[in-house]
Amino acid sequence: MAEKKEKLSLERLKNYFKSHRDEIKDSISVISYVTKPWKEEDMVDPRVVVYSDMRSHIAEQYRSIRTHLSSLSPGNPIRSFLITSALRGEGKTVTSSNLSVAFAQSVDHKTVLLDCDLRKPNVHRIFGMERSPGLAEILSGQEDLERFIERPVFDNLYVVPGGKTPANPVELLGSVRMREVIETLKERFDWVICDIAPIIPVTDAGVLGKLLDGSLIVVRAGKTQAVDVERAYSLLLEAKANPVGSIMTGVITYIPYYLYRYRYIYAQHYYGA
Ligand SMILES: Nc1ncnc2c1ncn2[C@@H]1O[C@H](COP(=O)(O)OP(=O)(O)O)[C@@H](O)[C@H]1O
Ligand SMILES: [Mg+2]
Repeated sequence: MAEKKEKLSLERLKNYFKSHRDEIKDSISVISYVTKPWKEEDMVDPRVVVYSDMRSHIAEQYRSIRTHLSSLSPGNPIRSFLITSALRGEGKTVTSSNLSVAFAQSVDHKTVLLDCDLRKPNVHRIFGMERSPGLAEILSGQEDLERFIERPVFDNLYVVPGGKTPANPVELLGSVRMREVIETLKERFDWVICDIAPIIPVTDAGVLGKLLDGSLIVVRAGKTQAVDVERAYSLLLEAKANPVGSIMTGVITYIPYYLYRYRYIYAQHYYGA
């Protein structure tokens, strides 16, 4: 049977998750935005709106995801999770960075953002850090995890960059050492957030997912195909990565100009996906 190609609308996505799992929360719409260019003196990429524009509508949406997750299963709280998507360029890195800052903003919530996308790490760029050393070097025994969790990037936020792309990302992510890293982070942090490669082309997210409490799927409005979201969802389920919800990026919502100062067209960021 030929697969039906269909681009997802927010409604369709919500219905999809509703019909698949009762306990799954509504997907959260995060609207598109055009950001100001990154100036040298900026500490963080302006797309991290929870930092650069804390009071904005978009920042509020990211914070609401924190609330959703905290209330998802009170008996079995989701404290560590990964952010994946069906394919590349759907907004995983920008989303995980915003969520990490939003989570770290709550009083006494120590948060760590771990760049597990060893193939195309980008978290370091968002926070103006060096790419290496990072997780790849920790996993290959060249670096100690401690040096990354000694000092926050700011407030309660700690960031571990990806490092140099290794020859064997899946083996490293599935290694005993990785299990130890995750256990240590879970003990020491209130929130452990992992940015990772897309689940359809590579198995990384499935391998890591079983070590965490849950996973979120980023879906890009007007781009991601419904069949691909279904596939991503089933792959995470099969891998026991507990998919608990999705976040839609690039949703163009009209908000009167006087309420919000950004314009609502989507623009490719200057260094692209
Ligand atoms: N919520 C959003 N709304 C609009 N554009 C977004 C949003 N999140 C990310 N983007 C843009 O999408 C592109 C890909 O984002 P990125 O986070 O690097 O994707 P991925 O990590 O999935 O490859 C970037 O150009 C980024 O600016
Ligand atoms: Mg990325």
